[in-house]
Amino acid sequence: MRKLLAREFPQDQEVIYLNHAAVAPWPLRTCEAVRAFAWENTHTGARDYSRWMAREMTLRKQLQQLINAPSVRDIAFTKNTSEAISLVACGIEWHPEDNIVTTDEEFPSNRIPWQAQAAYGVELREVPIHLPEPELALIGACDRNTRLLTVSSVQYGSGIRLDLELLGRHCREQGILFCVDAIQSIGAVDFDVQTVGADFVMADGHKWMLGPEGLALFYSTPEARDCLRLHQYGWHMTASAGNFDQRDWRIADSALRFECGSPNMLGIHALSASISLLLEIGMQEITRLVLEKTTYLYERMATIAGIHFLTPREAQRRAGILGFRIHSVDNPILHRKLLEQGVICAQRGGGIRFSPHFYTSLSKLDSAIEILNKTLCDM
Ligand SMILES: Cc1ncc(COP(=O)(O)O)c(C=O)c1O
Repeated sequence: MRKLLAREFPQDQEVIYLNHAAVAPWPLRTCEAVRAFAWENTHTGARDYSRWMAREMTLRKQLQQLINAPSVRDIAFTKNTSEAISLVACGIEWHPEDNIVTTDEEFPSNRIPWQAQAAYGVELREVPIHLPEPELALIGACDRNTRLLTVSSVQYGSGIRLDLELLGRHCREQGILFCVDAIQSIGAVDFDVQTVGADFVMADGHKWMLGPEGLALFYSTPEARDCLRLHQYGWHMTASAGNFDQRDWRIADSALRFECGSPNMLGIHALSASISLLLEIGMQEITRLVLEKTTYLYERMATIAGIHFLTPREAQRRAGILGFRIHSVDNPILHRKLLEQGVICAQRGGGIRFSPHFYTSLSKLDSAIEILNKTLCDM
């Protein structure tokens, strides 16, 4: 494993990369796949397009395996998480009394598409979740007019991880659609769509899945996708895609219906390479390692004077994100100073966000804490 990781992540010694919750570095195999694809395009163009299509199918199967989807037909590609959420938000035929329940901490991708439905008289209920049992607050906000519950599996700022099974069970019992923005989970911690019981799941590939920007996973159950009106049409989303001479057509039964035209083949080659590494190591092991990193940071940073963690202490309440604020320190300045010293992290949720991945070495975490301590002493 050590040898594999050293080969796949030859990161500059100057860089302490704690920003996987934003945009992750690629493994070496992804760089090689993109290089090979570029070379092929330059020298033989699309001569071997059938091989590219096989790669496209491989990626669908890899994603199916990664989230334990019942069928490869439930997997669609979109440009990003926002596009997938918009397909759901703009696809549902809303009634004026409908409401949508969500948290008050969502990334704009999982807020704006729903707010836009106010034009149809739909109410968005944003429930505070900084509580010991946030799921109960969300469930309590649902009533007989709730059409859909939508949450991030892990909040981008606070790093709070929700009990999706509990929420999924409530939605199933009450006939509420359940939508999960899983961008901060998939690739970091085990995620099983069948256990969760979600109708829609979306996640862009450029964070914990270690892929490029511009290619996202959009899972839907057959029943749930049949509830959505389509707003984009083209050759690729029909049951007879590829039969260009056929004049009559119908919408594909599978999730391919959400892909109106040519696929992002470059992104597909890259993301497939990245996911092959996750599957090789296994999500169980990756989950263990990711939680080990955030626990390690939590324990070692707890002694810093004035520190306030935005992320809950309990391991089952977090994943790869550790958010914190230092009392009586200008946190934006602290963030800038960390960046200047090679600690690549983000400023989110009113504090600083560290997000190591499974491969981040403990010595890098030690270096980050040392730099943080030293910077605080000098401030
Ligand atoms: C919870 C969450 N959803 C969505 C996104 C990004 O959405 P998109 O894939 O549309 O860029 C982010 C990015 O930080 C996020 O943290």
